[in-house]
Amino acid sequence: MINLSANYMGINLKNPIIVSSCSLSHSAEGVKRLADAGAGAVVLKSMFEEQILADVNKLELESSAMAHPEEIDYLRQMGMSQKSDEYLKIIEKSKETVDIPVIASVNCISDSSWTDYAKYIEAVGADALELNIALMPKDPKEDPNVIEKKIFKIIEVVKHNINIPVAVKLGPYFTSMTRVAEGIRKSGASGLVLFNRFYQPDIDIDTFEFQSKNRYSSPSEMSHSLRWIAILFEKFGGSLVGNTGIHDGEAVVKQLLAGASAVELCSALYINGLGQIEVMLSFLEKWMRKNGYRDIDEFRGKISQKNALQPEYFERQQYIRALVGVD
Ligand SMILES: Cc1cc2nc3c(=O)[nH]c(=O)nc-3n(C[C@H](O)[C@H](O)[C@H](O)COP(=O)(O)O)c2cc1C
Repeated sequence: MINLSANYMGINLKNPIIVSSCSLSHSAEGVKRLADAGAGAVVLKSMFEEQILADVNKLELESSAMAHPEEIDYLRQMGMSQKSDEYLKIIEKSKETVDIPVIASVNCISDSSWTDYAKYIEAVGADALELNIALMPKDPKEDPNVIEKKIFKIIEVVKHNINIPVAVKLGPYFTSMTRVAEGIRKSGASGLVLFNRFYQPDIDIDTFEFQSKNRYSSPSEMSHSLRWIAILFEKFGGSLVGNTGIHDGEAVVKQLLAGASAVELCSALYINGLGQIEVMLSFLEKWMRKNGYRDIDEFRGKISQKNALQPEYFERQQYIRALVGVD
């Protein structure tokens, strides 16, 4: 018997495929469809910190000093007009409807009073909270240490408010990913989702406007997360989750080999339909059978930097060899 179950931040998943935060998980009905399609867990569509504050303070989102123009555009495009109490109802109803873990998500940039809302998220039964910490520093005078500390402080404040596990979903742009990961773990996060895929801007040369492009990822975007999962395996100390560019069963196997506890994905479902979850699980099962594995833990992290048969693949020498002499 092949056992596909996985452990994510101490939560038991029947399989390692988590549907990442997106409009497919925007309602309890959507969550049910994803659970019926075989997902191991679902991350709900994010509430934005600004939405929570706007609700609490009765501020207009668009006049909020904190709102970044790109975020407002993102909210409009993604139809995110949700109220914070409605979000809690979605969590509650999803938990009544499905028997897989339901992970709430907040996209945040500060440790302001929105963090009190995390208590309600826990109270209505979310199994975990994913923080999409989306700082986009643009001030050249801003000290990188101060920026990192902002991330850590958000986690500390949220963790102080709740007992359910907290995962952090990060973008890929840091001077030292290992240092940031260590700080995130020390601040109380049990999971690290690598990597968030940022809004992809483009310019329409006829209307002279910014617009979003390539809403869905492509499989070629997975290498970055594969590298950092492999490097951070057993260094982070919590659960690592691969995200961005995971479109098929082979990609799931690769992420697990690198050391991921689970994967998060959504583009593959928008492109291929929800049936893709079963296609991926069936590939994983066949691959495990072919290679004589009964449990994911028997091969998880086998190709990480720690266990790699070829550790040189993580070294600069390999990088030089790969590039020098290629015209
Ligand atoms: C339509 C759509 C809506 C999304 N909404 C959110 C969101 O609300 N919060 C979030 O953290 N990520 C959001 N994402 C990003 C995904 O969760 C995921 O991180 C990203 O798409 C990369 O994974 P993929 O390659 O499987 O698509 C969204 C993505 C899409 C395509």
